Amino acid sequence: MVEKTFAIIKPDAVAQGLTGQILSVIELNKFTISRMEKIHATKEQAEEFYGVHKERPFFQELVASVTHGPIIVMVLEKENAIVDWRELMGATDPQKARVGTIRKMFGASITANATHGSDAPETAQVEIAFFFPQMHVR
Ligand code: RTP
Ligand code: MG
Repeated sequence: MVEKTFAIIKPDAVAQGLTGQILSVIELNKFTISRMEKIHATKEQAEEFYGVHKERPFFQELVASVTHGPIIVMVLEKENAIVDWRELMGATDPQKARVGTIRKMFGASITANATHGSDAPETAQVEIAFFFPQMHVR
């Protein structure tokens, strides 16, 4: 089934000029970029978006890291997009990510790990609606 997922190219990767290379990897891996926008997320948006992590010790660092510069928000589409995008991103910590994954190639640290991806159909739906409220998910 063709599925949609939500992805972000995070501020550090955008600031380093890695947007084009990451988009190229996305397209080489047969994802359709259905929506894409460059935005500068507010602290309020980031706190709501990452709400599930609000009790975690790294929450403030996470919110700061995703708001310190512009990000690219995207809806990616393909068969099994959710699982396939997480596989292509690799492990959260770039040092633990497999060779060939986006985080291995472009991540600098666990916080500046290049990209975000939804972790399940329910979160994909919520995250797409958060940044692209006009889009039909199903
Ligand atoms: P994401 O949500 O960004 O796609 O990443 P993920 O599922 O692989 O990781 P998750 O556990 O959801 O964590 C969200 C983001 O928080 C940052 N993080 N920092 N300092 C730390 O120990 C730590 N752990 C996680 C990462 O930037 C991660 O992408
Ligand atoms: Mg996550």
